[in-house]
Amino acid sequence: MDKEHACDTVEKIEIQLFLEGVFRLYGYDFRDYASASMRRRILQLMEIEKVSTVSELQSMVLHHEKWMERLLMAVSVNVTAMFRDPPFYTSFREKVLPLLASLPLIRIWHVGCSTGEEVYSMAILLKEAGLYDKAKIYATDINEVVLNKAKNGIYPLSLMKEYTDNYIMAKCGGVFSQYYTADDKNAVFNEGMRKKIIWAQHNLVTDSSFNEFDVILCRNVMIYFNKSLQNKVHELLYGSLKANGILGLGTAETLRFTVFENRYKELDRKMKLFQKVM
Ligand SMILES: C[S@@+](CC[C@H](N)C(=O)[O-])C[C@H]1O[C@@H](n2cnc3c(N)ncnc32)[C@H](O)[C@@H]1O
Repeated sequence: MDKEHACDTVEKIEIQLFLEGVFRLYGYDFRDYASASMRRRILQLMEIEKVSTVSELQSMVLHHEKWMERLLMAVSVNVTAMFRDPPFYTSFREKVLPLLASLPLIRIWHVGCSTGEEVYSMAILLKEAGLYDKAKIYATDINEVVLNKAKNGIYPLSLMKEYTDNYIMAKCGGVFSQYYTADDKNAVFNEGMRKKIIWAQHNLVTDSSFNEFDVILCRNVMIYFNKSLQNKVHELLYGSLKANGILGLGTAETLRFTVFENRYKELDRKMKLFQKVM
């Protein structure tokens, strides 16, 4: 074996042992996350923390809980935005809201909600359709740091230009700024927009379902998982949806080649909106 190949093999073994140790000690199971992206994130963390081998990082994380928090921040990619992929929200309004309108109570689960922007976007969509008062929105994430930000509903004012543009592109009908109050640094989302949202830590890999939902959005979460974990998560989501319930995935995600491909009908192929059919 040449030297470079040997190094790659050692690094691969170290990463496997590291993830096994993290799972056994802390219960966070990253063993079936997509390996290339997991490796990239571990190496990035090593560079930031000036640690030269995975084994050294492992020792820090296993011996100091504070390092587990750093690892969690590094491996859970928290990128998000209000009305991210605006046509998704247009399609949701046109194709899904009419299906929800006649329900006495609408239960929605945002899986992997990050800092909450997706959840507030949904709250706004429901409000503008007159459905917000009969909605109950559950928003969960593995990462408590981002969940706390989500709960507060406070975002840098500098992001509001992009979010307003997305809101307009999603063809919403109101004025985006009516949903928050601004000071010189931040935008604080109105209490009224938060009252229907229940935030909770939930790990998609190790925790089970906790309710039945009319809608589940799990967008841009499973792209970080390998095929076998994606199938496992689809099983959880499928089992958590009511008959005729709606599943929304991220635009780069798919139901194709999963065990559940034939158990949904496509409501919007491009925007990844599906309806459970059996
Ligand atoms: C890229 S963000 C997606 C945020 C939002 N859904 C969106 O599309 O804008 C992915 C989120 O999934 C969360 N996540 C990763 N692994 C998870 C797991 N096992 N259980 C629950 N959430 C997880 C991360 O913490 C992160 O906040």
